[in-house]
Amino acid sequence: MDSFGRVATDLRVSLTDRCNLRCTYCMPAEGLEWMPRADMLTDGELNRLIRVAVCDLGVTNLRFTGGEPTLRKGIEGIIAAAAALTPRPRISMTTNAIGLSRRAAALKAAGLDRINVSLDTLRPDRFTELTRRDRLADVLDGLAAARTAGLDPVKVNTVLLRGVNDDEAVPLLRFCVANGYHLRFIEQMPLDAQHGWSRAEMVTAEQILTALRTGFELTPRPGARGAAPAERWLVDGGPADVGVIASVTRPFCGDCDRTRLTADGQLRSCLFSQTETDLREPLRAGASDAEIAGLWRGTMWAKLAGHAINEAGFAQPARPMSAIGG
Ligand code: 5AD
Ligand code: SF4
Repeated sequence: MDSFGRVATDLRVSLTDRCNLRCTYCMPAEGLEWMPRADMLTDGELNRLIRVAVCDLGVTNLRFTGGEPTLRKGIEGIIAAAAALTPRPRISMTTNAIGLSRRAAALKAAGLDRINVSLDTLRPDRFTELTRRDRLADVLDGLAAARTAGLDPVKVNTVLLRGVNDDEAVPLLRFCVANGYHLRFIEQMPLDAQHGWSRAEMVTAEQILTALRTGFELTPRPGARGAAPAERWLVDGGPADVGVIASVTRPFCGDCDRTRLTADGQLRSCLFSQTETDLREPLRAGASDAEIAGLWRGTMWAKLAGHAINEAGFAQPARPMSAIGG
């Protein structure tokens, strides 16, 4: 719990900072200086921290992220260990879906329940420009494999960029509705490694909704939003729906239920935290579960009210999105 009464039941675990794409809004073409292997938590260390989170701290939802989490050798084992915990957490993963066509069934068998696939365009040449890799076909195969494997729901996350793919809101939604994928648009946040985000360039939730309404009738989806960041709309009366995550223009920090662990064992109470708590050193120095849990509680207690993107003096965290996890 934090000092504002929010309870962090959703743990995001970044399994690696590496990625097999180079999306222009995330990383430079040459990639980043990757974390040294020795700094990364071992599978055993990760399993232990996840156990403390689930069994001692009340985490009920686990999401594996990256970088690209499927690049982590042993991800199936990490998922299986999490799925064996009592109470069993719900387990999801945010991935670019490359390689999923071969691995979705094994991930499902290990205990993965659902999945979020990042997909910003359906046009092959544009995909190659935006991600600097010619892999659209692999992503679409991966998506289909996720559905076939029984991962449910299969969500698609899209970031629209002005002048790059902001003309694809309608085609992307049409594609997702036709295939049974749940589409959510996410406002671009200032988290890129190159610090290239600009408020004027960002495509806002309002603009996304306006674009969608040129192709569909949207009605507010009944039901509580809870801690879910997406505002959801029924598409042409439903049952299909679409989500819009207005992280910047309508922040939902007051309902945030997240806590984050980086691949090198740093705990963050917020995507935008300027401070981290090192769990790796205490872990390697022989700290007890109770000591680890105490550090975790203290970190969350100090969670700030919100991300302050819209306030004067906002400073982007030093750690980029790819090393925090989505
Ligand atoms: N703002 C919003 N979303 C982002 N993502 C990556 N960088 C940003 C950003 N600056 C998204 C990716 C992926 C997920 C991990 O986060 O598109 O869907
Ligand atoms: Fe939670 Fe921080 Fe995201 Fe706000 S910006 S929703 S506090 S992680």
